[in-house]
Amino acid sequence: MTETLQAIRGMKDVLPDEAPVWDFFEDTVRAWLRRYGYRQIRLPVVENTDLFVRSIGEVTDIVEKEMYSFTDRLNGDSLTLRPEGTASCVRAVVQHNLLYGGGQRLWYAGPMFRHEKPQKGRYRQFHQIGVEALGYAGPDVDAEHMVMVDRLWRDLGLSGIALEINSLGSTEARARYRSRLVDYLSQHEAVLDADSKRRLLTNPLRVLDSKNPALQAVIEGAPRLDDDLDDDSRRHFDDVQRLLRIAGVSFRINPRLVRGLDYYNRTVFEWVTTELGAQGTVCAGGRYDGLIEQIGGKPAPACGFAMGVERLIALLEAGGAVTANAAAEAYLVWSGEQAEAHAWHVAEHLRDAGISVALHYGGGGFKSQMKRADASGARYAVIIGDDEAQAGEASVKPLREATQQTRVKVADLAACIGHGRG
Ligand code: HAM
Repeated sequence: MTETLQAIRGMKDVLPDEAPVWDFFEDTVRAWLRRYGYRQIRLPVVENTDLFVRSIGEVTDIVEKEMYSFTDRLNGDSLTLRPEGTASCVRAVVQHNLLYGGGQRLWYAGPMFRHEKPQKGRYRQFHQIGVEALGYAGPDVDAEHMVMVDRLWRDLGLSGIALEINSLGSTEARARYRSRLVDYLSQHEAVLDADSKRRLLTNPLRVLDSKNPALQAVIEGAPRLDDDLDDDSRRHFDDVQRLLRIAGVSFRINPRLVRGLDYYNRTVFEWVTTELGAQGTVCAGGRYDGLIEQIGGKPAPACGFAMGVERLIALLEAGGAVTANAAAEAYLVWSGEQAEAHAWHVAEHLRDAGISVALHYGGGGFKSQMKRADASGARYAVIIGDDEAQAGEASVKPLREATQQTRVKVADLAACIGHGRG
């Protein structure tokens, strides 16, 4: 027997029963982004590996061990399936000179790829909605990004997602902090685990992110980033907080919040829920004022964030609020010599009127066709035999309520079915 093929580990199918929740999520997100004046940009899934190495950072988990990279067969270039969207977005903005006329408010959606250890809420192919405001320096942008996400949770009917914020300061402030932190962690090296010892040499801020319980006391006692903040960054951070208070968005300052990508400076933030177990961050981002220049553009500030779609879908499913039915409204069954042409005509007539119709495939008797109609989840069976065909009519049988079957003129059929819409 041939071995059955399976999807790649960590890459999920979204089956038709789950699709309505995805539709609800995507429709809500589109309407929300429109209300804030953001425009969509569609970006390739594959980029030069160098783009991610330069932007995300050489000594990050993503670049060191999680990228799906491969060599182009023809020219030997190293290419990578995008692990995130910010780098591509900035690359496109620089390449097409989009900041020429001023700032850009952009969003993108799509699959991202990271070779992580799969577990609940963590996949190797996952989806993000990303939002980037490029060319704007002020704290109003950072604050509005959090205000808009706060509104999205309400639009989606989600609650209990907490906002944590921090400021990483300027690049120089971060460098000062880094050396203080290395001094401190070196004094406690005996307590560090292997991962943290490695990070101490490569990316010491990431040690603060460790979830190892044995390290928590050392992490608690570590010097704090905000002691090293430069005056401009402190003022910027104060303003972000002031604007959040004006907007009525609650937040908590988490001095250990450092993020796993190197391009951030100043404001960073994460939205976290306790409902998803270990993978509780559903949205994360911050300011990245140096990245545009680093990728070859004229220096320009920027700020943005991305949401993990699978994690938000899991929250929506757990809440059980979305029960949209993706089945066609009507299932059309037919039998008889003259019935076929009439059935095809009626199906298209209903579609002209905006009613969704599944036409029965494969023939068979009325009884077996009606079983299919019922199993399809449709609200109505539209029944056409030779009688109906000759009279220019159709019979309508409600499948979800105890109402009688009726027979109507084709001209009245759409109204009859549309009338039953909830
Ligand atoms: P990130 O924190 O790496 O940031 O990812 C953003 C979100 O994507 C996470 O908070 C999480 O919800 C989701 N996510 C990440 N990895 C996985 C995974 N393996 N499985 C499921 N969901 C995942 C970025 O990607 C930045 N580009 C965000 C940004 C945009 N910063 C500025 N602009």
